[in-house]
Amino acid sequence: MIIIISVLLLLIIFLLLFVIITFFLFAIDLFLDLPYVATKKEKIGTIIRLANIKKGETVVDLGSGDGRLLFAAAKSGVHAVGYEINPFLIVFTKVKAYFLFPSCHSGERSDSRIDSGQARMTGSVIVKRQNLWKANLKIADVIFVYGRKKTMQKFEDFVFQNAKRGARIVVNTNAFPKKKPLKSENEIFLYRIS
Ligand SMILES: C[S@@+](CC[C@H](N)C(=O)[O-])C[C@H]1O[C@@H](n2cnc3c(N)ncnc32)[C@H](O)[C@@H]1O
Repeated sequence: MIIIISVLLLLIIFLLLFVIITFFLFAIDLFLDLPYVATKKEKIGTIIRLANIKKGETVVDLGSGDGRLLFAAAKSGVHAVGYEINPFLIVFTKVKAYFLFPSCHSGERSDSRIDSGQARMTGSVIVKRQNLWKANLKIADVIFVYGRKKTMQKFEDFVFQNAKRGARIVVNTNAFPKKKPLKSENEIFLYRIS
């Protein structure tokens, strides 16, 4: 009887923790221009393909959420850098990076070689707790952008003014208002800085 009550209590505590964490996660985003909406799993493949990522490149995700694009990119052997301000999403990404890419959680660039089932992971993942509007875009060969319609002009100006020549920009769902994409597929838009 005591065991059953203890298990029930534990379950209730976990449930309460889950509700509190979820509440804070969404409460933080209520104050943001750019709330957390994760890229749909079926779009990740299109994003990675359009980005035409090459091993050794640097990929930056502006508002990296739970890090799903960083991890997908890192599988291609790139150095993936995320900018994020939601502490819960940062912790989630760091924990995942710690297990998938143990040698890069120190914050230094490093490559890890892990056999994860079929996938051999040779990239690195770093998430920075930093305002994305202050991101260093000069290091990026590829930049991921996923914003609301009303923030897309700001993203367009920020990226085209600060990214290096030749950088590819992959935009999810809402295209840049003024620039014409080189390619578009499944609501994913590819641009290049000329
Ligand atoms: C639309 S979500 C995109 C998540 C992720 N890139 C994806 O595709 O799954 C935007 C993310 O940007 C983060 N964010 C919003 N404003 C930010 C800021 N000023 N600096 C850094 N991150 C920000 C939010 O917390 C959220 O996780």
